Amino acid sequence: MIFKKCGSLKGEITIPGDKSISHRSVMFGSIAKGPTRISNFLQGADCLSTISCFRAMGVEIEQNGTNVLVHGNGLRGLKEPKNILDCGNSGTTVRLISGILSGQDFPVTLTGDDSIKKRPMKRIMTPLTQMGAKITSVKDNGCVPLSITGTALHGIHYNSPVASAQVKSAVLLAGLYAEGETKVTEPALSRNHTELMLKNFGADIRSQGTTAIIRPAGELYGQDITVPGDISSAAFFLAAGLLIPGSEILIRNVGINPTRNGILKVCRDMGGDVSLLNVQTEGEPTADLLVRHSSLHGTVIGGDIIPTLIDELPMIAAMACFAEGKTIIKDAGELKVKESNRIEVMVKNLTAMGADVEETKDGMIIRGGKPLCGAVIDSRMDHRIAMTFAVAGSLAEGETQILGAECVGISYPEFFRDFNRLAEK
Ligand code: S3P
Repeated sequence: MIFKKCGSLKGEITIPGDKSISHRSVMFGSIAKGPTRISNFLQGADCLSTISCFRAMGVEIEQNGTNVLVHGNGLRGLKEPKNILDCGNSGTTVRLISGILSGQDFPVTLTGDDSIKKRPMKRIMTPLTQMGAKITSVKDNGCVPLSITGTALHGIHYNSPVASAQVKSAVLLAGLYAEGETKVTEPALSRNHTELMLKNFGADIRSQGTTAIIRPAGELYGQDITVPGDISSAAFFLAAGLLIPGSEILIRNVGINPTRNGILKVCRDMGGDVSLLNVQTEGEPTADLLVRHSSLHGTVIGGDIIPTLIDELPMIAAMACFAEGKTIIKDAGELKVKESNRIEVMVKNLTAMGADVEETKDGMIIRGGKPLCGAVIDSRMDHRIAMTFAVAGSLAEGETQILGAECVGISYPEFFRDFNRLAEK
């Protein structure tokens, strides 16, 4: 797909449902008693992988566009699937399901696509094994395929070496089935959707600072869930609105959970004009974001804010190329184990466009203000890389060709349509 410099972006856009919350709605609904009605479900390929895994385990799930009805089987009602479960490109599916499957009474094998086959699974295997789980990497390389034989579990206190919501959630979900209390302490607080949502489903779960504590559940109960718009998808329009001269965009219905909204602080720290309108604080907080073109300057991003903007860092790195002065991104080593090595891929592609960017051990240093020029961008089939360079390509001189652009279907199938619609106004 080819991108060229575009004129101002103007108008309104409604952001599709949050990926993390969509996954969890289906998972928790499947192991709850009674119906779970989900609206604004994200129809991205990752969340559809979660639906197909639970269907394969005997859960009846009706999907009608963004409306999903899950007829939950109860905490102990999943059935042994006939085939290997295919999690596609979705790390959230593999890691969270592993926690649930560890406490069942049947064997399962989990696999996925070529990218997921390279992602680290030891990070969940270690704590789950400490809880008594029988979980092995079939090729003994710490990656999928994983073979899990459900068994009796016991609670642990896990001090996680990484701030990862997927690790935390795998352990907490296993904790639903474990004897005694299960605790997870993280080095910094990662997204807390699992804690908030499981509580609504009736679990005995609480948080104390960076520790989440769960006790085994008798049953969970089906819920009505409206999924907020995904701030990680909104990030591309936030950046485009700030960077493309003359732009003014109203981004409607964006989830602004404090464990996810670090990008808003960074935009403001860089001098960006972003205001929050129509703030709703019931359940997962949401707001409409009004963004206007601004002159940006560099900043330093590191420490506890990193987990709250981890998926937005590729877009933030590209944004820093258009800001005056130096931006330092540090403490972000987790970027190396996402859908691609996002430090390496960003540095390589931004350099190809003429940016002054340097790779560090856990981040990047970007010296902004140099004009970018079009280039051939290899997305490495990483959805967030493809969308980041669609925005960068709309600001660069000449043509930017994005290879593998169709991978946006993982988290935002209508991204190019929505972007072009705002550009035409
Ligand atoms: C997610 C957690 C994050 C994030 C991913 C979704 C989740 O991963 O990058 O896109 O839904 O829990 P980690 O837990 O590996 O940081």
